[in-house]
Amino acid sequence: MKLILPIAGEGTRLRPHTYTVPKALIQVGGKAIIAHILDGILSSVTIEEVIFIVGRLGEKVENYINKHYNIKATYIEQTERLGLGHAVFLAKDRFKRWDPALIVYGDTIFNVNLKKAIGEVDGCIGVKEVKDPRRFGVAEVKNGVIQRLVEKPQNPASNLAVVGVNYIKNTKLLFALLEQMIKKGKKTKGEFQLTDVFQLMIEEGVRLETFMVDEWYDCGKPETLLLTNRYILEKNGYYEKQKDTVILPPVYIHPTAKVTRSVIGPYVSISENARIISSIIKDSIIGEGAYIEGYVLASSVIGEHAICKGTFKHLNVGDSSSVETT
Ligand code: G1P
Repeated sequence: MKLILPIAGEGTRLRPHTYTVPKALIQVGGKAIIAHILDGILSSVTIEEVIFIVGRLGEKVENYINKHYNIKATYIEQTERLGLGHAVFLAKDRFKRWDPALIVYGDTIFNVNLKKAIGEVDGCIGVKEVKDPRRFGVAEVKNGVIQRLVEKPQNPASNLAVVGVNYIKNTKLLFALLEQMIKKGKKTKGEFQLTDVFQLMIEEGVRLETFMVDEWYDCGKPETLLLTNRYILEKNGYYEKQKDTVILPPVYIHPTAKVTRSVIGPYVSISENARIISSIIKDSIIGEGAYIEGYVLASSVIGEHAICKGTFKHLNVGDSSSVETT
């Protein structure tokens, strides 16, 4: 089985971070989004090759994977934002023997037993019940088998959202249908949709089943990134004692990061080689190599190699006076 990871999206809602770092490499809970995805998949199923469909800054993804993983990886650039269907189609040449494909949207951190989910089926699509399915692909299901898939419907027929973890056995048909779709210019909402090609597969008689993904964490914008950071730290915190520092778990402090004279936590992730001095930080993500001195931070996302230097406030406040800083 080969894994296709479309990660060419611009991550506009995570700017300014995504101006310099592809969204897949944004840190959360102590490692890059893509590392959470890969570690979960590689520990549960056998993957022969990982095909990354990258966009701008794709070389950073390649460097990251080379540094942290020993896997067979291919990088294909999607130069135009033509949709997930188009992104997946770019991987066609890597499927000479029509191996089955696992297609995982690269900004989705999830927790599911893939081995059990994939089983012996033709194909299966991970879904989750959501309150408002209108901004997702939506599956109509009968007895565990998908009857219809619609991309971002105005009037959803169910509340089962397509999460972005899909297994397709018949990749020969998948790529043939994608090719037809692209040739005919059949777009939905301005893009070649994967949801549409899965629907075409159903119409060709392919039995696509669903599996439930209960843990699905959004990393789309700073607020949700910080919430995801919390969830991950609750499960996987890690730190070593730091000099003259009080730690309020859960936190993650990379072994190469150094903290002195500070109060850290709860819910703080500090990446490789970051340096924190005389600061109080809670509910934040501190990027690789960042330097923070004399700051009180909450709900903050600090980029790689950023420098934040503050000072302690000097107050000379009279009796019965009131001072508030915001
Ligand atoms: C994409 C898919 C959609 C899916 C969603 C999951 O939409 O097209 O079917 O439900 O990811 O996050 P996007 O979020 O790229 O608009």
